[in-house]
Amino acid sequence: MTTRRQWLKSALAAGAGLPLSLTLADQLMAAPVSRAEWLHGIEPKNLNQLVRLGSNENPYGPSEKARKAIIAGISEGNRYAHGVAQDLRKVIAAREGVAPENVLLGGGSSELLCLTGMSVGLEGGSVLSAFPTFRLLMDYATKFNARWDQVNLDENMVHDLEAMASAVKGDTKIIFVVNPNNPTGTVLDTEKLKSFCVEMGKRATVFVDEAYIEFLEQYEKKSMVQLVKDGHNVIVCRTFSKVYGLAGLRIGYIIGQPDTLQKIASKQMWGNYNQAGLAAAAASLDDTDFVSMTRKKNAEARQHLFNYLDSKKWSYGKSVANVVFFPAPIDGKTILEQTEKKGYQIRVWDYAGKEWCRVSIGTLEEMKGFTKAFDQVIA
Ligand SMILES: Cc1ncc(COP(=O)(O)O)c(C=O)c1O
Repeated sequence: MTTRRQWLKSALAAGAGLPLSLTLADQLMAAPVSRAEWLHGIEPKNLNQLVRLGSNENPYGPSEKARKAIIAGISEGNRYAHGVAQDLRKVIAAREGVAPENVLLGGGSSELLCLTGMSVGLEGGSVLSAFPTFRLLMDYATKFNARWDQVNLDENMVHDLEAMASAVKGDTKIIFVVNPNNPTGTVLDTEKLKSFCVEMGKRATVFVDEAYIEFLEQYEKKSMVQLVKDGHNVIVCRTFSKVYGLAGLRIGYIIGQPDTLQKIASKQMWGNYNQAGLAAAAASLDDTDFVSMTRKKNAEARQHLFNYLDSKKWSYGKSVANVVFFPAPIDGKTILEQTEKKGYQIRVWDYAGKEWCRVSIGTLEEMKGFTKAFDQVIA
């Protein structure tokens, strides 16, 4: 049977130049991040029957308030959503203490990462990031012929800011920092990151992806938004897909200087928002109970996984988010095959000559089931 990926590849290949289309199709969907994933594939046929610990989603979402807002907003489904998008933009701007011109919405933050990556390529520059990290922006940049300079994480699996500062070059257009990082869930010291952004912002735009920042208590104090307000050359990226549990409703945003955002927006498709997503996002913003509940339950379930890893004496990044990264104890392809057979989807990464497991945090029950199954897989 033809898979969606094969279908898209052949459709693109028929419609445009063959080699570019094939590789672009690979990047348009979640790309394998290891040899094991290339061999095994990353789109399980029975995904809907698996416990999904592969995409750092929120198992508790959407919140009750978001669900009600979606239902209430469904009657607007016959209307284009640009007016509602403008309203949400204003609400976000007011919450963050910036002007609406400092905010750009996207169909998920992925859209904004892709557009930024594309801009780097079109401007003929390069992008610098840690490795491993969430690679979508860089994948788009390299598709558009930009160079991607990578700096390994330090021994604690945290961004090595000093090494990154030394790696900035004359043609670096974007310095990409994910805080907390995906796949490791590790977080940077706020003051160190601020100084880095201020200094490096003089040389290139520092793009700080804060997709997971709301997992931290008092995250507002740890965000880099203040630097945007102070006029620095910084972009902050957020999403409704993680703590707010709206991954399938596709709303994200960036906060930055208006001229920088205008350049990114100039390549954006028109009308990329949907009424349901916008309604759910607006209702979620003030839903502090849901955010606190997610944080608390996520921390409990994450602790269960930490305890398991500690009992095995395996090292791992000290995650503050809903994802944990640890060295694969047996070969990655077997892990993918066997965990899937037992009903769990996880990811395997290649990094520093080794294979690593990336496990998203589900409910406590799911994590209990996972550690039991994983233990049998590696026995
Ligand atoms: C760091 C980071 N940024 C952005 C995204 C994309 O999220 P979305 O497009 O759903 O907003 C992800 C998804 O896993 C992520 O891990």
